[in-house]
This record gives sequence, C-alpha cells and structure tokens, in this order.
Amino acid sequence: MATSVGNNDILKMRRPDDWHVHLRDGAMLEAVTNHTARSFARAIVMPNLTPPIATVAAAEAYRSRIVKAVDPSLNFTPLMTCYLTDDINAKEVEQGHAEGVFTACKLYPANATTNSAHGVTDIKNIYAVLEAMQRIGMPLLVHGEVTDRETDIFDREALFIERILEKLVADFPALKIVFEHITTEEAAAFVQSASENIAATITPHHLEYNRNAIFAGGIRPHYYCLPVAKREKHRLALRKAATSGTPKFFLGTDTAPHTVDAKESACGCAGVFNAPTALESYAKTFEEEGALGMLEAFASENGPRFYGLPLNEEQIALKRQTQTVPEFIEVGEAKIKPFHAGEELAWTLARNN
Ligand code: NCD
Ligand code: ZN
Repeated sequence: MATSVGNNDILKMRRPDDWHVHLRDGAMLEAVTNHTARSFARAIVMPNLTPPIATVAAAEAYRSRIVKAVDPSLNFTPLMTCYLTDDINAKEVEQGHAEGVFTACKLYPANATTNSAHGVTDIKNIYAVLEAMQRIGMPLLVHGEVTDRETDIFDREALFIERILEKLVADFPALKIVFEHITTEEAAAFVQSASENIAATITPHHLEYNRNAIFAGGIRPHYYCLPVAKREKHRLALRKAATSGTPKFFLGTDTAPHTVDAKESACGCAGVFNAPTALESYAKTFEEEGALGMLEAFASENGPRFYGLPLNEEQIALKRQTQTVPEFIEVGEAKIKPFHAGEELAWTLARNN
C-alpha cells in the first residue's frame, strides 16, 4: 500500500521496522535502545559484541537485557542474529532458529569492521551452516566487503560481489541473502537483477551524503562508517533503488553508536548513530526524490515480506514540523553525537496509536 499523503502535512503509515541495528550492551544499550524502539516495532539486532553472540544461550541473555532496557510504554521486539565464526555449529544455528531465538545469521568477513575479529576467514568454512540455513529458510545477512589489505577501501564492496557473492548465490540458489548497508551502484544493480531471495538494506546516511562529507574542510569522523560512503554517482543509485518501490530494498539504519571520544580519535571507530531521527531522515530523502508515497513500502512492508514475518498493524504518523536534532545524547559520563546533530529536519514523528 502507498503511504498516505493526502494531507501534505501528515504522513500516516504502518509502523516500520529496522532491519539492521547495533544496540551494544551495558550503559550504551540503556542509552540507545529507546531511540530505536520509539520509531520501530521490531529490529534486527547485530551480534558484534565482545565476545560475539554466537550461541543460543548468549542470544537469549542479550535479548533479555534489551527487553529490560525498553520503555514499557513502547511496543518493541528485538529480533536476534547469530554471529558466524569459522567453527560455528550448524546444529546450534538450526536449534536457535527452531526455538525462535535466532531470526537470521550475520556474516562478517574477518576484520571487515567493528568487532569482526572472530568473523569468517574463508566462506568455505561455513558451508555446512549455509546448507542448513537454505533448507530451513533462515536469512543470511552479509557485510559485503573484501578484507585484503591491497584492495582500495572504496572498491571493497564491488569486489566482494565478484569474488564472494556471485559464487555464494550460485552454490546456494535458494538461500535468502540480505546484502546489508549497500553503498554502491554495483551492489544495487546486483540485487536488482538477482533472484527474489536476494535483497538489500540501505541506511539513511548513505542516502544523504557522499564521501566528500568525510573530508569537508578537515577530517570529519562522525561521517565515517563502514562500508565507507562512496562517490556521488553511487549515492544517486542508492536513492533511486530505495525510492523505486522495488520490494528487494528495505530499511536498515545500521545505527552504530560510539562515544564521541572513540570517534574523535587518532584511530576513530566506524559508525553513524542515526537512531533518534532515522525515520525522519528517510522521509527527507523520499520527499526530495518526490517519492513520499513509496516510504511505507520501503520502511514497513518490504522487510517483513522478505523475512516471512507479519506486517505491523500499528499506525504511526510523521508531521511536517521542524525539529532540531540534539547535539549529543548522554551515556553516563560520555556522549554520543547523533546523525544531523544540531541541524533541523522538516518531519517529526507524531504518535503511535
Ligand atoms: C558498525 C559497528 O560499529 O558495529 N559500524 C559501521 O560503521 N557500520 C559495524 C558495521 O555494521 O559494519
Ligand atoms: Zn552494521
């Protein structure tokens, strides 16, 4: 169904889900979770903690900590993922899926990004698990970047398609695969032309800025994330894909909080914390593209349909009301800088009803 935009100032839609979030743990989890739960009914929670979430017991315990951190007035369900390691046990994955603990598995090529040191060193090492996942219809979520030191950082995603993904798709033709946080026109084209069991998430930040933002007048660590933002032509391809109405593309913010100290450092962490205004950010992009009517499909329909989950029944509304994004969100003594900090956004989440 198209987003209802009969009145130019109110945008009503089915409550959305976020198919890619980092909620972290401890004080950070407490500080960030409600920013996601306020807008989104469900979220696919990434397992890249230290140590990673790679057993059913660890995922259940983590899920309880998340549920405890959620404001009880918000209706929010975390969907857990299993971190794939070289020695992951196929039985454990299958059992976790059967028990309703694991919704999906996450493939991090070893050392591709934050807390991925335990990731997979060779895709062949996890073929038994992929076989099982294909059989039971469990989605594989992929951080799609090659990790060799020789490859230029801006080429890592496109090369992953050629070197890994094409073979993976050929070897497991029925496996559901989500190419996470795509950043290139090559990735958008690959997903578009692949079979219907291949989909992609797109973040608000990759829709809004290109790699120049990271170097505008000096180095700007809050725009640094992985996969790193690419050239303008790639951003334009992502905007076209997201707003096209194609069911293969859906919302996944990749909200990835790090404290200001960890970002503003000689070796700053990768990640953009966009949860507080993620939905409003997507609305900005869709409006600029003249495609507000497509927002509901991208945010609230394509994801659950791909995962084989029911659509949310709740409705939400975005109001055309300017909001100024706070400069910081506090985490105990520390701070996180949100995406669009200090800037104005034209849309504001009105209510759940
Ligand atoms: C993520 C993180 O910090 O956990 N960082 C990021 O830049 N997106 C990891 C990831 O999704 O790559
Ligand atoms: Zn991520």
